[in-house]
Amino acid sequence: LNSDKQSNIISMFDDIASGYDSINSWISFGMEKIWRSKSTSLTLEYIKNSKVDTIVDVACGTGKMMVSWKKELSKSGIDYDNLYGVDPSTQMLKVAKNKLKESKFYENRADNLPFEDNTVDIISVAYGIRNIIDKEDVFKEFNRVLKKDGILLILEFVQNNKIGFIDKVKGIYIKNVIPVFGKLFSKNKDAFVYLGTSIDELPKQKIISLCNNHGFELMYLKSFNFGVSHTFISKKRSSLSDNDKKSIAKTTTKKEITIDKILSNVGYSLFITHFNDFKDIDIKSSLVMSKILKKTKYAESSLRTKISNARRIFKNGLESEALNLVIHSKKVESKHKTKAKKLLKSITN
Ligand SMILES: C[S@@+](CC[C@H](N)C(=O)[O-])C[C@H]1O[C@@H](n2cnc3c(N)ncnc32)[C@H](O)[C@@H]1O
Repeated sequence: LNSDKQSNIISMFDDIASGYDSINSWISFGMEKIWRSKSTSLTLEYIKNSKVDTIVDVACGTGKMMVSWKKELSKSGIDYDNLYGVDPSTQMLKVAKNKLKESKFYENRADNLPFEDNTVDIISVAYGIRNIIDKEDVFKEFNRVLKKDGILLILEFVQNNKIGFIDKVKGIYIKNVIPVFGKLFSKNKDAFVYLGTSIDELPKQKIISLCNNHGFELMYLKSFNFGVSHTFISKKRSSLSDNDKKSIAKTTTKKEITIDKILSNVGYSLFITHFNDFKDIDIKSSLVMSKILKKTKYAESSLRTKISNARRIFKNGLESEALNLVIHSKKVESKHKTKAKKLLKSITN
């Protein structure tokens, strides 16, 4: 059944391919071009070298994202060997090939990428995740082909956690206005009805936990135009080696190093994304951050589980020390200090 559903989605894109580019810029009021260029240039800020080997745009469709990559790469002065596009829709690829004559394309689904393990520097997926049915398999595949520290860039329309005024307007626009546009300019009206329902089915949280559960550390999360489009930039993290695990099991002497390792493994940058005011604090206080995040329900549940596992290993070893760091830091807002004080009291009592 899932494979039928997936095939239907792909043939729907075959149907709308010829008008895709113009309808796309129309319905987003030209904003999608800006979202693409901002996201690609932000991603390139994470590239430390002056050259990368391979960038793969998955669900590349008509190649819009690849055009953006080329532009931003040349602006940033970062050189590259290969820019590949992958998409299972023959008709979408036909448009892309016309546009980007020198690039190489593969007619593949995202769960079957034609690349060796650990060979890709950057994967981008723009407005494609929603259309992929077996998301878990695809994230595994991303992890397989990306190099260590390789970057995964996702652009997507997702359902926000809280439905505010803008979301309501967006909902009306997507569900009532876009299908009319679709009917006027494309032979497949259902495709544009599908846009609305697929957004409803994909909460922001889902992408965050897919990243977390498949070995990616979320480094950057931004919503454009009041949450209409979201950008997720994450990095393939290195998993703990057997030696690391052994040293965690022992943990008596090298506590700090191990905390550092564990926290970078569970996504230290995710904290920073959420809690800018914690940016400059010693790594030790991340434990406190985790506790505060837990209390304030800011952290994702999967992350919270990992953090509490990490904390269990250390029991209350460094906790009060870390709490004191927060309490005495100039960088922390007073409301968080108050929480830290309360927590310290509950630990020491
Ligand atoms: C909304 S379009 C986005 C195209 C392009 N990335 C862009 O930003 O304009 C979604 C694309 O996902 C592709 N797609 C659908 N199912 C897929 C799958 N399982 N794996 C990879 N791509 C898929 C479709 O063929 C279509 O080209």
